Amino acid sequence: MLLFNNKVQLTKHLQSISVSNSSIGFVPTMGALHLGHLSLLEKSIQNNNHTVISIFVNPTQFNNPEDLEKYPRTLESDIQKIKSISDAILIYAPTVDDIYEGNTASRRFDFDGLEHQMEGKYRAGHFDGVGTVVKRLFEIVKPTNAYFGEKDFQQLQIIKKLVEKENIPVNVIECPIYREANGLAMSSRNERLTAIEREKVAVIYKILTQAKTLFLTETCASVKDFVTEEFNKHPEIELEYFEIAEEETLISCDSKELNKNYRAFIAVFVNKIRLIDTISLK
Ligand code: PAF
Repeated sequence: MLLFNNKVQLTKHLQSISVSNSSIGFVPTMGALHLGHLSLLEKSIQNNNHTVISIFVNPTQFNNPEDLEKYPRTLESDIQKIKSISDAILIYAPTVDDIYEGNTASRRFDFDGLEHQMEGKYRAGHFDGVGTVVKRLFEIVKPTNAYFGEKDFQQLQIIKKLVEKENIPVNVIECPIYREANGLAMSSRNERLTAIEREKVAVIYKILTQAKTLFLTETCASVKDFVTEEFNKHPEIELEYFEIAEEETLISCDSKELNKNYRAFIAVFVNKIRLIDTISLK
């Protein structure tokens, strides 16, 4: 297992091992790895000659300083988890300076409106930060295939748009959500929950699956009302938003159209910890 903190050393190493037609699979993360991340690594190993994982808590995508400060940083245990998958995975865990070279700021992006919906509304500048860091990571690693989880579905659509608009030669591979036995979507932020909170927030997925069933027969507005009423019964969970949106444009659903695919999106706070989840309504 090789660990790089420096992009020059990483690129030199990648050049030294790459032969013509060899492929690089890339799993960008902010660490605190869980089974969802490990499934992305496994997929990358199956389908590429080399696999790189980045572990970098990107400051420019946090709109809330407390969230950035408290974001779990668990490099030692992350390394052990990566080793348990394969010794051949290359780890890139850069410093802020290695990525931002003294100017820790985001570029402004136009993602054709995707950035103005949901997470974009509630986390000002978040997707400029994500776009900036992912573009930079792609420039450094030059992956053939890059793996992203469907839990951050809006981020996934934005990264596809980034790749299209900036002509970046990489395949963006979408991977399914991993859930705990009680349905809670796996997330690095779950590490901040107490055992009791972890059980309580299982209700998020329960309500999402009920919303999915209701969506078969009800209007978008009445599904939204149902979800709001359900969360009113759980005052320890603060509902930030629940949206039903069209998958491609992420535009909120007013009235259902037959030829469109819809998805439900949710963000909640539990004791100041922000969790998101999503479910396809197909
Ligand atoms: O999904 C994440 O962990 C982050 O947003 C990403 C894509 C690694 C960029 O910092």
